[in-house]
Amino acid sequence: MKDKRVAFVTGGGTGIGAACCRALSREGFQVGILYRSSKSRAEAVLADVRDGFLVQSDLTDIGQVDGAVNRIKETAGRVDVLVNNSGVSINADIHSMKIEQFDAQRALTRGTWYLTKRIIRLFMLRQGSGRIINISSVVGHTGNSGQIPYTMEKAALDAFTKSLTKELAGRNILVNSVAPGYIDTEMTKNLPEEVQKRILEAIPLGRMGNSEEVADVVAFLATRGSYISGSVIHVNGGLYGG
Ligand SMILES: NC(=O)c1ccc[n+]([C@@H]2O[C@H](COP(=O)([O-])OP(=O)(O)OC[C@H]3O[C@@H](n4cnc5c(N)ncnc54)[C@H](OP(=O)(O)O)[C@@H]3O)[C@@H](O)[C@H]2O)c1
Repeated sequence: MKDKRVAFVTGGGTGIGAACCRALSREGFQVGILYRSSKSRAEAVLADVRDGFLVQSDLTDIGQVDGAVNRIKETAGRVDVLVNNSGVSINADIHSMKIEQFDAQRALTRGTWYLTKRIIRLFMLRQGSGRIINISSVVGHTGNSGQIPYTMEKAALDAFTKSLTKELAGRNILVNSVAPGYIDTEMTKNLPEEVQKRILEAIPLGRMGNSEEVADVVAFLATRGSYISGSVIHVNGGLYGG
């Protein structure tokens, strides 16, 4: 079991994360699925992947992140690919946004940074290889009204990708971001119809993307793409070119 390549996906029970788990399983990885609250959906993903394990953890709680890392150590003993996909979008305009909402958004970035730090140190540096893929967002580049803390955190994630690439130079660990545009998941389902209509008009391909189209790019970066690091790959149907 410990010789097998292992991919670990945060937020792997739903949407884009679930599609990443399935795509990475098809590439032959044992897949660790981190979920916070979507237990039954994570169990359904587990049933679809050939070889996997579940980890329950709220990344905003550092003690729970340590718990997740211990569980990976006991279960798989290595991490070859880390997909930092967990995300939350807390929406309100600046006049009504509360400091607690801002802090909640920031806490997830902090947990992502800490999980990545632990995985690099405990597994990737010792293994002498690794791939890290951060799921950011087009709105971290374009900005978006009503989403200031979300766009700030997504821009931070892309800065994390670029800085980490430089820190890990010569360590055979590649770090990239995949920045989706508008993808048909729970996150976008709840947008008011009028907002959805406006979005569709702005996308040259004339439709939202689906989770599998993002997961395809993640699988490529996880297994091929050997000369790509420090990049932000946009997956947005032509909405924004970078
Ligand atoms: N859909 C889009 O149009 C779009 C566009 C650009 C970027 N993205 C990004 O893509 C990623 C996946 O989003 P999605 O569209 O697939 O939506 P989603 O289904 O709502 O997925 C969000 C995931 O994040 C997990 N999560 C949230 N807070 C967490 C926490 N504190 N600790 C651990 N996990 C946590 C959730 O886990 P539980 O359900 O188990 O609580 C869930 O699986 C996010 O980073 C999102 O920002 C999405």
